[in-house]
Parts: sequence; C-alpha cells; structure tokens
Amino acid sequence: MRPLVWILAFLCMSPVAFAADKPDWAFPVTEKIQPQVPPDDGKPKTAPGSSKTYTRTEIEDLFNPPDWYPDMHPPMPRVVSNGNAPQVRACAACHLPIGTGHDESANVASLPVSYFLQQMADYKSGARKGSGSMTTIAKSISDEEARAAAEYFASIKPRPWIKVIETADVAKTYVGPGNKRLVHPDRTMEPIGRRIIEIPENETRVLNRDPGSGFVAFVPVGAIAKGQALVAGGGGTTACANCHGADLKGTAEIPGLAGRTATYIVRQLFMTQSGERDGVGTHPMKAVVAQLQTEDMLNIAAYLASMTP
Ligand code: HEC
Ligand code: HEC
Repeated sequence: MRPLVWILAFLCMSPVAFAADKPDWAFPVTEKIQPQVPPDDGKPKTAPGSSKTYTRTEIEDLFNPPDWYPDMHPPMPRVVSNGNAPQVRACAACHLPIGTGHDESANVASLPVSYFLQQMADYKSGARKGSGSMTTIAKSISDEEARAAAEYFASIKPRPWIKVIETADVAKTYVGPGNKRLVHPDRTMEPIGRRIIEIPENETRVLNRDPGSGFVAFVPVGAIAKGQALVAGGGGTTACANCHGADLKGTAEIPGLAGRTATYIVRQLFMTQSGERDGVGTHPMKAVVAQLQTEDMLNIAAYLASMTP
C-alpha cells in the first residue's frame, strides 16, 4: 500500500472517525413555526371506559395531571401524583401513572430502585444531561420523595407500549408543544430515510395523557433483523444480554431494554457515546457504544422496542 493509503486507514481507525452523527430525529424539540391546528374547544375530554373528565387546562396541570384509570396502578405517592411545587413536577405528568411515559420522556415502569435513585443523583450532579426538567426536579426533590417514586415505579409491571412497523414511507410529522412529535395536519407521506419516527397510536388519547394507548415506532425496512444481530454481539458490540438479563428484561440492578421507547434508546446510546450521559454507573456501557454508528443505534432500538417487555 502507498503511504497515503496507510495514513487514511489510520485516520479511519481514530476514535473521532467512529463518533456517530447526532440523530436529530430522536431528539424532538418544539418547532418555532407550528402548523395551524384548530384551537381547543374548552369542553371536558373523556377516555374510553373511564368515568372521569378533564379540561385541556386540567390535563396540562403538571402538579395535578389526570388519572384516567385509578384501577390500572397502585395508589400513587404524592410526589408521583402531584409533585412538590414549585420545582418538583408530578412524575405522572410526563411518565404517566403507569410509568410508560411518552416518546420524548422515558418509560420508567419496573426500573430497579437502585438504578432509578442513581439516575436521580446523576441528573442532580449534572453527570447525566438530556432533560432540563429532570435536572430541575432532581435538584429539588428530597431523598424520601425520590425513594417513594422509585419504589412506586419499580412495583409496576412493564407492559407492551410500542408497536414497531418497518416501512419505506411514513406520515409527515412535526414537533409540537412539549417536544411532542405529531402527525402534520396536511396528512402527506414522506420517505422514512434513515430515521425512526415514533408517534402516538392515538394522538387524542396521548395528548390527553391517557395511559390506555401507546405508540408506534416506524422504522426502515430491515432494521429489526440488523438490530437483532447487533444486540446478540455481532459487529463488534458486546452481547447486551451479558448485563441486561438473558431476555433483556433487566436484572436487580440493571434496567431492562425489551419493549422500551425506541427513540429513548437511541438518545441514551448517543448520549453515552458523546459523554452527555456519564453517571456513576455508566462506565460499563462506554465500551459497548464506543464504535456504534447512528445507523447501528437505530437498528438496535428498532429491535429492542419490538421485543415483549
Ligand atoms: C416535564 C416532564 C417530566 C416530569 C414531570 C418528570 N420527568 Fe422524569 N424524565 C423526563 C424526560 C424527558 C426524561 C428522559 C431524559 C433523558 O433522556 O435523560 C426522564 C427520565 C427520567 C428517569 C430516567 C429513566 C431511565 O431509564 O434512566 C427517571 C428515573 C425519572 N425521569 C424520574 C422522574 C421522577 C421521579 C419524576 C417525578 C418527581 C419525574 N421523572 C418527572 C421528563 C419528566
Ligand atoms: C458490561 C455490561 C453491559 C453491557 C454488555 C451492556 N450494557 Fe447497557 N447498561 C449497562 C449499565 C450498567 C447501564 C446503566 C448505565 C448508567 O447507570 O448510566 C446500562 C444502560 C443502558 C441503557 C440506558 C437504559 C435506560 O433506562 O436509560 C441502554 C439503552 C443500554 N444500556 C443499551 C445496551 C445495549 C443496546 C447493549 C448491547 C449492544 C448493552 N446496553 C450492553 C450495562 C451494560
């Protein structure tokens, strides 16, 4: 080989060459210019099979979010149902009373208590970035409240929440208020490209913070099988099951991955690689993500989200 080729080969092996490009589609941020959508009619909203009604203003109250189906979950500790004003918003507002959350937040159902508490500490110290809301909450929450929330969500069984569909074309979307990805009102389709587009299965129900309806993650054709190979340890990664449990449902200390929100998984893999997530327990993940490209993260997330939690 000529020297130039050697130099190029060497450059390609340097760590910089392995850094993934930021997958902007996985980091939804409310768009400055919003499409025209009809204004709220002010009428109380309902949910199938629930006797409760809430107005839009009540639904948006982050210190008293709706609890459409009290029978779906054990009694919530006050920090989960109401938070602790002014800084600690109710966990149920974003993570829902059943913990499954929305695409832009996180599914916290059944996370190990020790892991949950360590994440709160990492947000507080700044070692884990990724959400201004979580940093603010973690800085103000008391140890007792954090433990009550951790034990509550740990007690909730994971449930299927994400349907993964491989497709060439996907509905055009935009990011509405609260970093929420929604179908664009012009109802056109566009090529999916190399993205995951995760949207509510039923937009009205998700906007009403109704935990009776989950999400659909549209992924490129072939992503699930490629992800399965990577998760099994092909392509230079370590088999995820070595640490996340044989069926990827987690262990007493390490969070499960099966059936988790697809874009959330991409965000965590990316932020672990970039160093934005660098908490007390992150070290074992660093070698795992070091050589992943954005495409690998997409494929891994497509497969993990498609698994039964
Ligand atoms: C305003 C919305 C919002 C509220 C309210 C909220 N969270 Fe979060 N939470 C998020 C987002 C967004 C993330 C994902 C951040 C990231 O990528 O690091 C998250 C992530 C987490 C995680 C990390 C999950 C994991 O798998 O590592 C924990 C733990 C958590 N939240 C606990 C809480 C607790 C406890 C409360 C209530 C005191 C709460 N959250 C309230 C938005 C919220
Ligand atoms: C050597 C052990 C180990 C292996 C192998 C491993 N992980 Fe992890 N993983 C961890 C630990 C420990 C954490 C908690 C990290 C923290 O506290 O910041 C974690 C966290 C994660 C998270 C964040 C979960 C959350 O709730 O925020 C994701 C996503 C993840 N791992 C994906 C993977 C994938 C995909 C693989 C396989 C390609 C894998 N891990 C292999 C140990 C491992």
